[in-house]
Amino acid sequence: MVSEASGSPVLAFEDVHLSFGAVKAVNGVSFTVNEDELFAVIGPNGAGKTSIFNVLSGVYRPQQGRVVLEGRDLLGMRPPAIARLGVARTFQNIELFANLTVVDNLMLGRHQHLRYGTLAALLWVGRARGQEVEHRRRVEEIVEFLELEQWRKMPVGLLPYGVQKRVELGRALAMEPRLLLLDEPVAGMNLEETEDMARYILDIRDELRIPMIMVEHDMGLVMDIADRVMVVDFGTPVAIGTPAEVQRNPDVIRAYLGGDPDVEAAVEAGVEAAIAAEDEGASA
Ligand SMILES: Nc1ncnc2c1ncn2[C@@H]1O[C@H](COP(=O)(O)OP(=O)(O)OP(=O)(O)O)[C@@H](O)[C@H]1O
Ligand SMILES: [Mg+2]
Repeated sequence: MVSEASGSPVLAFEDVHLSFGAVKAVNGVSFTVNEDELFAVIGPNGAGKTSIFNVLSGVYRPQQGRVVLEGRDLLGMRPPAIARLGVARTFQNIELFANLTVVDNLMLGRHQHLRYGTLAALLWVGRARGQEVEHRRRVEEIVEFLELEQWRKMPVGLLPYGVQKRVELGRALAMEPRLLLLDEPVAGMNLEETEDMARYILDIRDELRIPMIMVEHDMGLVMDIADRVMVVDFGTPVAIGTPAEVQRNPDVIRAYLGGDPDVEAAVEAGVEAAIAAEDEGASA
């Protein structure tokens, strides 16, 4: 089991415990994320994946553990402070301003970089003006990077779902993150939208060199693009390794098919088959 990233870690998540009453949402989870790594977190519904993101971004405060970003301890910091240190995220359910345009939603992502006071902003002088121009320039770069040009002046609420997910990614990129958290970036997308999103995620890793943690149920996508994968079940880490290592791990298959009498046969068949069986069961 590979539990350590190979280069120097950007993030260390160490023995984190978070409970809600009797529910152990995160139960002794440890992992590191490397500088140019796409790290995936998978697990059944309610496994604690979003809770890990909420601990990382300061929304939930764990009872125990350490979270260290580039040498700085994040625990106890409030979400805006953590965002300023460079942790940006996209949400499981899109969180954008539906009535604002694509460009304006991206400008809001730059909000934390505004360095001038309100008065200067009102008077539109000096630093305020120079900075506004710079922010617009950065936003236009992101519009181009994510191929959003044709929608840039449109209210986000009118755009196709897959494009809205991309705008949300753009808003996170506008924050110039040191670490990007993607919570189910392709949930609800069709195949074409999923393939587009996969390409943007890989471009973010390879061209922008931003490390990412991706929570995702689309197993094909995870196994295709992630560098390493952590599997959690009932808040507890089951395995960490390369996609190939994780796919062969019998504990992972058992986590997905817990209690199924055919589990040993499924262990033989592999993880993707186990998940397909679970999905069939759910829709039957
Ligand atoms: N604010 C909260 N109050 C109480 N319980 C919570 C809270 N947030 C999460 N939980 C519980 O913690 C557990 C983990 O939830 P979490 O949302 O992290 O799961 P998840 O892996 O993201 O699931 P999904 O795949 O459905 O998004 C669940 O049992 C959930 O009900
Ligand atoms: Mg979730």
